[in-house]
Amino acid sequence: MKIQVKQGSVAGESTEVLVLAGYEDESSLGQSGEMLDRSLGGYLRELRKTKEFRGKNHETVLIHTRGAIPPKRILFVGLGEKADVTVDRVRQAMGIVAKRVRQAGLSSFTTSIIGTNMPQASPTALTQAMIEGALLGTYRFSYYRTEKNDERKGLTQITLVTPKHTHVDAIKRGARYGEASAEATAFARDLSNHPSNVMTPTRVVQEAKTIAKEPGVRLKVLEQKDQEKLGMGGLLGVARGSHEPPKFIILEYTGSGRQRKTDRPIVLVGKTVTFDTGGISLKPADSMEQMKADMTGGAEVLATIRAIARLRLPVHVIGILPVTENMPGGRAIKPGDILTMLSGKTVEVQNTDAEGRLILADGLSYGAGLKPACLIDIATLTGACAVALGQFAIGMLGNNDVLKKQLQHAGMQAGERVWEMPLWDEYFEQLKSDVADMRNIGGRGGGMITAAIFLSKFVGNIPWVHLDIASTDWSQTERPYIGKGPTAIGTRLLLQFFLNHVNDAK
Ligand code: BES
Ligand code: ZN
Ligand code: ZN
Repeated sequence: MKIQVKQGSVAGESTEVLVLAGYEDESSLGQSGEMLDRSLGGYLRELRKTKEFRGKNHETVLIHTRGAIPPKRILFVGLGEKADVTVDRVRQAMGIVAKRVRQAGLSSFTTSIIGTNMPQASPTALTQAMIEGALLGTYRFSYYRTEKNDERKGLTQITLVTPKHTHVDAIKRGARYGEASAEATAFARDLSNHPSNVMTPTRVVQEAKTIAKEPGVRLKVLEQKDQEKLGMGGLLGVARGSHEPPKFIILEYTGSGRQRKTDRPIVLVGKTVTFDTGGISLKPADSMEQMKADMTGGAEVLATIRAIARLRLPVHVIGILPVTENMPGGRAIKPGDILTMLSGKTVEVQNTDAEGRLILADGLSYGAGLKPACLIDIATLTGACAVALGQFAIGMLGNNDVLKKQLQHAGMQAGERVWEMPLWDEYFEQLKSDVADMRNIGGRGGGMITAAIFLSKFVGNIPWVHLDIASTDWSQTERPYIGKGPTAIGTRLLLQFFLNHVNDAK
C-alpha cells in the first residue's frame, strides 16, 4: 500500500476518486466542497437538496465528474449527526469507502482528513484511524480458495491532502501508525483464520521465528522436555490429550540503537490454544469450528511485537505464548485430576474445557518471574464474557488502577473498548477445592470473574490486567472494517497502549 501525504487542495488532485465526507442533513459543503460545486455547476448542492446524499452514517453516493474538475469521480460518505461523530465513526467511514472503491473496480483514492470538527482528536489520531479503517475494510482471507474469481485487487494507493502545511508531519506519523496497526491486525486475523490442521503449535513457533528476524527481536522456545524440567503442569496437563507437542514461546524485543534492556519489561501473555475441543469435557458440535481461533490472544501478542519492532519503538517488551491443542486423546487429563502448576500450587481440574486458565497460569508465573514493570494477558477465556458483555466490549479485570486506566484509554482510542468487571477476593470462595489448593471452575455465577480470580493467584503482587476477548474475537456479521470471522480485537488496543507509553514518555 502506498500512502502519500501532500499539502494542497483536494479539488486540484487528478485522482480516480475524491472522497468527501458529510454530516447528516448539513447544508454547508465545506470549503473544498464549495469550490468543487462551482466547477460542477451546483451539482453537489443539488444532491444535498434532493436528499440523494443526506450524510447518514455509512451512506455512500458515487458520482462521475466527466472532466469538469481534475478528480474523475467523487465519493460521498456520510458520518451521521455532527454531534455524534467519534474517531471510530471516522474509521468506519473509511472502511466503507475502501469497500466501495474496490467494488467499483478502482484501486486508489484521495481524501482530506475527516472528522476535524472534533476538537479532542488530533490530526495524527484521525489519520491513524482513517488508514486503519481503509486497510481493514478490504481485509479478506482467501488463502485456501483455489478459484480466484474476483479479479479486483483492492487498494494500492491512498493520497491524503491537507491544506495546512503545519499538519503534514502529524499526518505522516498518523499514516505510519495506522498502517502498522492495520498490518498487525490483518496478521493476527490471518493467524486465527488458518485452520488448526495448519496452525499447529509447531507452526506458531515458525511464525515467531519469522518475527525474530526483525531487528531487536529474540526468540526462545521451551520444548516439552524443558517444560517438564521447569514443572509447567498446567500447559503439560492440557497438552496430554493431543499428539501435537506443546510449545512455550518467549519473544523479546529490546529495541535497537538506544538500549532498553535495562528497563523492566512489559510482559504480554497470550492464550494460544490452536484448537479447543473442550477435551474430555467435550464441547457440543455446533460452532466448534470457531475454536480454531482460541489462539487469538497469542496471535495478537505476536502481531503486536512485530509491529513494535517494525516501528522501532523504544520499549522493552516480552511476549509469552503457552501453545497447545486441547484434545480428548487417550492420555488426556480427566475431571478430578490434580495438576501441580509451575508456581507449585495444585489445581483440581473439574472441567477440562476450562483449559485457558491452566496454560495462562504457567505463562503468568513465568512472566512474573521476569520481574516485569507489569503483566497484561489477553485470552479468549470464557463463554461467560459473551453472556455478560456480548459482541462489543472486551472484559477487563486487574489489580492495578493505573494500568487499567491506560488500557481503557487505549481501547477507546483504538475503537476496541474494554469494560471493567470486579476482581474481589470474595469470589475465590467459588474456586475452593476439597482436595487441592483450588479448582479450575467456579460454578454458575460470575464465570468471567472467577476465571480472572484464578489467574490472579499466579501473578503475585505485580501490576496485572487480564483482557477477556471471548465473543469479541469472532464477528458473526460483516461490519465496516471487521469482516465475518476472526476480528483480532485487542491488537490495536495493545499497540496503542505502547504508542501512548512512548509518546507520553517524550
Ligand atoms: N475457549 C473457551 C471460551 C470461548 C467460548 C471462547 C466461546 C470463544 C467463544 C474456553 O476455553 C472455555 O471453553 N471456557 C469454558 C469455561 C467453563 C468450563 C468454566 C466456558 O466458558 O464455557
Ligand atoms: Zn475450553
Ligand atoms: Zn479455550
